[in-house]
Amino acid sequence: MLPDYYEFYNPVKINAGNEALETIPYELKQMNVSRPIIITDKGITNAGLLKVLIDSFDDSELVIGVVFDETPPDSSLKTVNKIAKLYTEYNCDSIIALGGGSPMDTAKGVNIIISEKDDDLRKFMGADRLKTPQKPFIAIPTTSGTGSEVTLVAVIYDEVNNVKMPFTSNRLLPNIAIVDPRMTLSLPARITAATGMDALTHAVEAYTCLQKNPMSDAYAFAAIKLVSENLLEVVKNGDNKQARFAMANASTMAGIAFSNSMVGAVHAIGHACGAIAHVHHGNAMAILLPYVMKFNMDMLENLYAELLLPIAGEEIFAETKTGEKAMKTIEIILIMNHSLNKLCGMPVKLSDAGVKKEQFEQIAKTAINDGAMLPNPKELNEKDVIDILTEAF
Ligand SMILES: [Fe+2]
Repeated sequence: MLPDYYEFYNPVKINAGNEALETIPYELKQMNVSRPIIITDKGITNAGLLKVLIDSFDDSELVIGVVFDETPPDSSLKTVNKIAKLYTEYNCDSIIALGGGSPMDTAKGVNIIISEKDDDLRKFMGADRLKTPQKPFIAIPTTSGTGSEVTLVAVIYDEVNNVKMPFTSNRLLPNIAIVDPRMTLSLPARITAATGMDALTHAVEAYTCLQKNPMSDAYAFAAIKLVSENLLEVVKNGDNKQARFAMANASTMAGIAFSNSMVGAVHAIGHACGAIAHVHHGNAMAILLPYVMKFNMDMLENLYAELLLPIAGEEIFAETKTGEKAMKTIEIILIMNHSLNKLCGMPVKLSDAGVKKEQFEQIAKTAINDGAMLPNPKELNEKDVIDILTEAF
């Protein structure tokens, strides 16, 4: 059923394919800027990816203002302020983020401080608090998972008050996303698996949560097909460029979908597992997705049944009886998890991912207060979360 009203917004230009990186100098010129700061992390530098980006400036007269490659795994308030100082000190006029979720979220935070001319990021926490157009911003994802290159969200960790600060604003959307398969070729199998399952979860939740709409559905549906056709292959053969590119596309499409329709209970419980038991986000998504789907089944059976087509292909879709399609979708996700476990050791149970039973209550309390719970079609209480955790343990 179509919603009575919805909004969909995605102004991010997507330059995708081999050598997409080489378009950056041209794009910067088009935006009338010439001195970007590059924000990345040590892992990216060590993997040689920063060099590929720097080399793409070789034939241009543009200059890289400064490179910051010490972004921590959880983007932090302290780091954001440090980078903002560098941006000013080196007379930069634009931002390039190279990495997974943390460098991209960090870059969004830096952009807020620079553009709003205020060094207290906390003032802008929450929804739609940004009043100034942001500096030109190019995002280059190096994992196929977060979708941050096309989302209006940033989460920055405030280490003094020990809270994760969420920011949402259309102004946080990058101007350009560079989807270049060279950037994900060296991603280790285990991270490839976890981030790929994060992308799948973005798409499944976007397709089924309360804010879904026909535009986000189209992106989510297409993303699910690409993940199911390519994830096992990239985990097996990391240097398969075509499959890597397909996964990079899937992740960006899933990002566009959930940036417009939001996510649901898998993310709410997964965030809590991350905060309390330090479970990697992608692992939490993979483990929890089938069990939350089972919980949502009575509300979402028809939609899960529709997803059997992109997740299993025409043949299985056609031969599965109507009343069994939704369960089959869940079964296939469970099989995917087990295959990933065999291929690279991705955990399939919370007990293997570092969660302790004694933490269930705290996880449940945290999860029901998470913003991602709101768009979940079926309401959950603490006991429901504990039941899901128990099943997934
Ligand atoms: Fe996610």
